[in-house]
Amino acid sequence: MRSPLIAGNWKMFKGVADAIAFAKEFRTLARDFTEIEVVIAPPFTAVHAVADALRNSGIATAGQDCYWEKDGAFTGAVSAVMLKEAGAELVILGHSERRRVFGDTDADVTRKVHAAYAAGLAPIACIGETLEEREGGRTLEVLDTQLKAAIDGVSTEQFATMVVAYEPVWAIGTGRHATPEQAQEAHAHIRGRLRAWLGGEPADHCQILYGGSVKPDNARAILQQPDVDGALVGGASLDPRGFYAIAEAAAR
Ligand code: 13P
Repeated sequence: MRSPLIAGNWKMFKGVADAIAFAKEFRTLARDFTEIEVVIAPPFTAVHAVADALRNSGIATAGQDCYWEKDGAFTGAVSAVMLKEAGAELVILGHSERRRVFGDTDADVTRKVHAAYAAGLAPIACIGETLEEREGGRTLEVLDTQLKAAIDGVSTEQFATMVVAYEPVWAIGTGRHATPEQAQEAHAHIRGRLRAWLGGEPADHCQILYGGSVKPDNARAILQQPDVDGALVGGASLDPRGFYAIAEAAAR
């Protein structure tokens, strides 16, 4: 009932030429995928080129963030409307690097989610605890707070297109991924909260992705967990063959 979704978050890697080369190679590799959804999130400067190179491939393009105003004097910012016009269909919001490096708060995430919906973009809302929070026994509480902000004021109809990504901060870029059991525990908790707050149907339909050091050799075990519906891949999404191998693990 939930198709697997594999998303690649390129972070601040790849210029336009490199991004186009990746898109061309990957769409050839992935031409036989039917039962899985694939999303690629390049840096802002390459969104248009990647969306263009992936046209009619079934592979969607996403932004990595957006600002909540449509336009205005906001130097350096990119709006959801602009992302949409450039060809994006989704936008990653609340990534821990946005929170930690750029100071994005839960309230900012709420505003951005609503801006995304207003522009016709599906949000990929990221939530996850730090190592300190995990060791302090506060994981579930942190997930609840961040998840609440992501769905604050969101209608059931809007929520139908939201993707939630569980990304434990201690697993991002560290090579130390969550065990399949740790991922399943967090994902089941998130789905349980969605069930309590929004109802059974929205919870059952929501794709919940795991992110944090997903690689071709560990993807399968994590993706086999019943509440893990896909992956949000950072480093391993930069190489078309590696990313394809992860997508293939989801397809099986
Ligand atoms: P890594 O796969 O490099 O750990 O990054 C995960 C991530 O932050 C995806 O959004």
